[in-house]
Amino acid sequence: MIDQSENHSVNPRTETAATFRDVLDQRLSRRGFLATGAAAGAVTVSGCADGLSPPEQGGSAPSVSFAEIERAVSDTIAYPEGYTADLVIGWGDALFPDSPAFDPMNQTAAAQERQFGYNNDYLGFIELERSGGRVTRGILCVNHEYTSTQLMLPGVAADYPNSMTAELCAAEQAAHGGSIVEIERSEDGHWAPVIGSPVNRRITARTPMELTGPAAGHARLQTNADPTGRRVLGTMNNCAGGITPWGTYLMAEENFNGNFLGELPEGHPEASNHARYGVPGGWYQWGRFEDRFNVGTEPREPNRYGWVVEVDPMDPTSTPKKRTALGRFKHEGAESIVAPDGRVVLYMGDDQRFDYVYKFVTAGRYTPGDRAANRDLLDDGTLYVARFDADGTVEWMPLTFGTGPLTEANGFGSQGEVLIEARRAADLLGATPMDRPEDVEPNPQTGRAYIMLTNNTRRTEDQVDAANPRANNGVGQIIEIIEPDGDFTATRSRWEMLVLCGDPSDATSGATWNPATSEQGWFGSPDNCAIDPEGRLWVSTDGNPRTGSNDGIWSMETEGEGRGTGRAFFRAPAGAEVCGPRFTSDGSTLFAAVQHPGDTDGATFENPGTRWPDFNDTMPPRPSVVALRRTDGGAVGS
Ligand code: FEO
Ligand code: CA
Ligand code: CA
Ligand code: CA
Repeated sequence: MIDQSENHSVNPRTETAATFRDVLDQRLSRRGFLATGAAAGAVTVSGCADGLSPPEQGGSAPSVSFAEIERAVSDTIAYPEGYTADLVIGWGDALFPDSPAFDPMNQTAAAQERQFGYNNDYLGFIELERSGGRVTRGILCVNHEYTSTQLMLPGVAADYPNSMTAELCAAEQAAHGGSIVEIERSEDGHWAPVIGSPVNRRITARTPMELTGPAAGHARLQTNADPTGRRVLGTMNNCAGGITPWGTYLMAEENFNGNFLGELPEGHPEASNHARYGVPGGWYQWGRFEDRFNVGTEPREPNRYGWVVEVDPMDPTSTPKKRTALGRFKHEGAESIVAPDGRVVLYMGDDQRFDYVYKFVTAGRYTPGDRAANRDLLDDGTLYVARFDADGTVEWMPLTFGTGPLTEANGFGSQGEVLIEARRAADLLGATPMDRPEDVEPNPQTGRAYIMLTNNTRRTEDQVDAANPRANNGVGQIIEIIEPDGDFTATRSRWEMLVLCGDPSDATSGATWNPATSEQGWFGSPDNCAIDPEGRLWVSTDGNPRTGSNDGIWSMETEGEGRGTGRAFFRAPAGAEVCGPRFTSDGSTLFAAVQHPGDTDGATFENPGTRWPDFNDTMPPRPSVVALRRTDGGAVGS
């Protein structure tokens, strides 16, 4: 979602005061071929001051090539000439032979549990079949991040929240979670769901799940409904995620705080913990009808959310597992990669203003081709949080009980408690408070990773630092992590600013695009990203309307002389952000999740910002997955 309105308790660590110019100069003096808004065209190249040279930039990934689309505010999608877009699946579409027809005027939990959910976010794709060199069949794993209550449900806006009923809240909960759906390509190239495929599954706020790993069973996870602290009903607010090397689907629980209402009992021991996570956020009315969403009656229930959930998409009867070893925070995503020594590394952002970037390194090693051996790899390993130093070093600091400040003296009784309060542990370690870390994606071809920092309008001049160098940052930046010798498990890495986003024609913006970037090629508020099969970076946005044009997808050069060049590829309809960009391994399809179409200022079910994709007055806008393809069947962007 575009913004988070709860009052975040700003990290207590005071940042060293530095002006924007100071920190920008530091970065430019280290390796500065980037043009600033103030001095477009100035290109300088300098060596690395710290002796930790990055891998050569040899232009290993070819530049992208397509006819850029225009910046615009419009009520439908746009893509380059020579391309086409299939509507693959959207909110309310059938997944099963017995799915009821979508009836937006009579939404029920029972119907929604058999249909594709709301507000599609993460897209994972597990390839099942190729034919004639083309990927023709696979499993799409889709998160349904949240419900825009007054846009989704008819008749509730006029008297909200009094208009909400237990039945409508249940329908909302059923629209959260995820969908697993097999899709196939027809002869003419179109992608469509296989209704009734044996893998198809809806995961909702009521799907039974298991808590595993170091925090499982901890007293702080126990509730009246679950005295074991190991059994949870459902997952919600699943933003981005990941597909593991062994083919499981990771769903990252993000703004879980919004599910809760109520008041903690006076002097309750969870008070400061809940405050650090913004609990209760009060975004939904669920707590009026269900005790578990009221912190007054179930004060520990919030501790059972904010985890990464692992799902076996091949077995719809399997129990999803909340992997507590990965820590509890507002997980944006969980993209993984196998390091040279076989350990698996997951990069994770905590999407809140002034929160942190993490990585998790498994203790065990990945065994190719042996799903059983890899099944519980995510239960044991080390969680690290990042400190971004001005000299270009990233220090990854372990959240390990008994080390540094993570001891009983600071209220941590076990590794489980360090993980339940991962944010407080990271505060004590002195992690760098970032400008809302969203997707973090490793590039297997270069040994680097890219962090989308979406924006942070609350950062003040005396809070800027090298990695977050702008106050009142409404447009965000992209940071590149360079892992030494491609070793993703490294605890000391390097970082570079790939781009400070924003309008390069505005001298006050501080934007640092490559001067080759066109009038369409720049953007604001990077959110999700994808690496295509040729190793090229693509970025989708959530908040670009602040710059006067809809959200969309841009390609982003990372190599050679073109580094820092953006190009406009796809534009979403009014009110929508674009999530989950995902390429098929042949590069022929780019899947994109169009989330919250029509959710413009003041939009309601009765008066949405657009009626994309149906443009039918009886149909509300429907969050949907599109497949972008070249009409000649070639690879996207080539
Ligand atoms: Fe759900 Fe961080 O966007
Ligand atoms: Ca978003
Ligand atoms: Ca996001
Ligand atoms: Ca991604």
